[in-house]
Amino acid sequence: MKERENWGSKIGLILAMSGNAIGLGNFWRFPYQAAKNGGGAFMLPYVIALFVLGIPIILVEWMQGRYGGKYGHGTIGYMVYLQSREKIKPKRAAILGSICGMIVIGVTVLVNSYYNHIIGWTLGYGIFTAAGKTMDANVSTGDFFVNYVTSPGPVFIFWIISLGFLALAVTRGIQKGIEAWAKLMMPILYVFGFILIFKSVTIGAPVKPEWSALKGLDYLWSPRWSELSWQTALAASGQIFFTLSLGMGIIQNYASYIKEDDDIVLSSLTTVGLNEFAEVILGGTIVIPICYAFLGAEGLSQSIGLTFISLPNIFRAVNGGRAIGTLWFILLFCAGITSAIAMYNYIVAILEEDMGFTRKKASILVFALYIIVGLPVGLEQIITKTAGFAYFSEVDNWVGTYFLVIMGLIEIVVTGWLMKDSFLDEINRGAYWKLPSWVYNVVIKFITPISILLLLIGSTMDYIKQGYFKLVPDFVAKTPELVPWVNGARIIIIIVFTLGFIGTYRSIKKVYGEELESNSVIIKK
Ligand code: ALA
Repeated sequence: MKERENWGSKIGLILAMSGNAIGLGNFWRFPYQAAKNGGGAFMLPYVIALFVLGIPIILVEWMQGRYGGKYGHGTIGYMVYLQSREKIKPKRAAILGSICGMIVIGVTVLVNSYYNHIIGWTLGYGIFTAAGKTMDANVSTGDFFVNYVTSPGPVFIFWIISLGFLALAVTRGIQKGIEAWAKLMMPILYVFGFILIFKSVTIGAPVKPEWSALKGLDYLWSPRWSELSWQTALAASGQIFFTLSLGMGIIQNYASYIKEDDDIVLSSLTTVGLNEFAEVILGGTIVIPICYAFLGAEGLSQSIGLTFISLPNIFRAVNGGRAIGTLWFILLFCAGITSAIAMYNYIVAILEEDMGFTRKKASILVFALYIIVGLPVGLEQIITKTAGFAYFSEVDNWVGTYFLVIMGLIEIVVTGWLMKDSFLDEINRGAYWKLPSWVYNVVIKFITPISILLLLIGSTMDYIKQGYFKLVPDFVAKTPELVPWVNGARIIIIIVFTLGFIGTYRSIKKVYGEELESNSVIIKK
């Protein structure tokens, strides 16, 4: 078997893993989710979800990754197969592994299909802001955004440049590519973040005395138990999954490049800390106070619009807004790139490790794949001439939200109940600080799976209520021209999932065919 690469240094691993987690989710998704769901009312379930779901699942994912790496694998299908084959026998384990492989291929192919477009927008907006184009008071920022996403030029040029960045980083490999980029981009992100925080909290109350930046912080940080709802808890748990890259298979992929005896307990907790710092301290403190000062609580709760419509409006009004706006979009670009690299690398790992392609060829193929799967995301707005995002929303609802939770449930059940090797021995090997046994016996076996199950039931009921299961979902019921885009997204999801399942099964069979035939474990490390 070909020698697998490892991370070059501890700091490189931590920065790459943080880059994997810290993404558009922290700076684009978190502020509007928190704002839309009542600020302080959102933060309560958010913190609970971090401890009950986030930390246990991330520990499991790091362990799964390093465990798979020991056998020379960087993809989830094999990892779940290896974990569960002794207790449920190879044949069933291969099916379970293939279901996981299917979901993760869905995420890395389809979530990245829109994620890369948003990265393209951040690059485009960064350049347009630096050039002063977004600052023209004659064009509203809403119109600017609609013009942007309905014009083929900017949409395709900046998207393809962003894909080029990803291809370049991944082609150069783990140490020279992914690690080196993380070492450059993560510090930029933190430094720009601090500069922006300073601007945001010192903005005062430029519009109304009751709309001050400090009141914005109060809106986020004052717990409001009375506004707590089931909906808020679902949104907060979903955000924890997205921000920590849980259920996406990409944490396991990065962890597979960790050496067998290197620490994973403290390292994984450190990256959770860095991610949460970037999310609630940087993301929350940059966006919420400044938007509150200009828009009040009501205006805060717009979704995609907060970053691409409301903030540019604010940049027009503040001193040095052009420079501040440019920093903001560069920060978003760095955040997005380092997460998208992880999704890109996952597919490269499949091509490299399962199909024998060189890393360079695999990167080129993934570049072409991303162009194909990303086309409908960009074309929808250009063809319909509206900022409808029906294709994007449908893919995000299912692959970027719902299936992450299903995947999290499978991972935790496999690790808590179906793994024969001792989880504690496995995770504590080389650990600077050893995980106590109650984390496994109480949290991973019971509390976390039950919580995910509740989350899944709640999400399913919510999806039924919102009409996502209908042939024509409610969100496009009044715009029939968008219905084909939703149906198109559904067909693509089914195709990618089917190919993902078959491909994963075949890969497992190729390496562990003898075990599948005899339905008994032969290869052991
Ligand atoms: N965890 C990544 C993000 O937050 C996917 O954007």
